[in-house]
Amino acid sequence: MSTATAANKIVRALRAAHLHDAPRGELLRLACEKLRGLGAPFTSVYAYMLRGDELVLEAFAGRETEHTRIPVGRGVCGTAVATGEDQNIPDVGAIGNYLACNLDTKAELVVLIRRGATILGQLDIDSDVPAGFGEQEHATVREVADALAVLL
Ligand code: SME
Repeated sequence: MSTATAANKIVRALRAAHLHDAPRGELLRLACEKLRGLGAPFTSVYAYMLRGDELVLEAFAGRETEHTRIPVGRGVCGTAVATGEDQNIPDVGAIGNYLACNLDTKAELVVLIRRGATILGQLDIDSDVPAGFGEQEHATVREVADALAVLL
């Protein structure tokens, strides 16, 4: 499926759920499940939302993680918020500030959920595929993150 089609289908599902008054946690869970449903390289998908100076895990699809709260500045997730930049890490073993969840994860993509200048949170995706995330995957997740920023 093309990037646009994959992202559009997920955004349409999110808008439909929002129209039916789905609460925030449900929208986040749906986003995680639909992205994971695209298959490899999307192994596990986590929605962390910013509360004060911590990221709090509010929904996920895939493997459980012990990292349910991450301080801004820690790990790949906290670095995304601290720098204001999405993070695409092709080899998590090669970086010093990685917070490991399991031994199978090879690559990680963090895409910020922003409303204007405000960072609301992020979609964090683990992949068992080395260097799993390219421009296409990043664009798909960005469209979903941008839709969430409007709907949440
Ligand atoms: N690897 C992340 C921690 C979150 S788990 O991947 C779900 C990090 O380094 O911030």
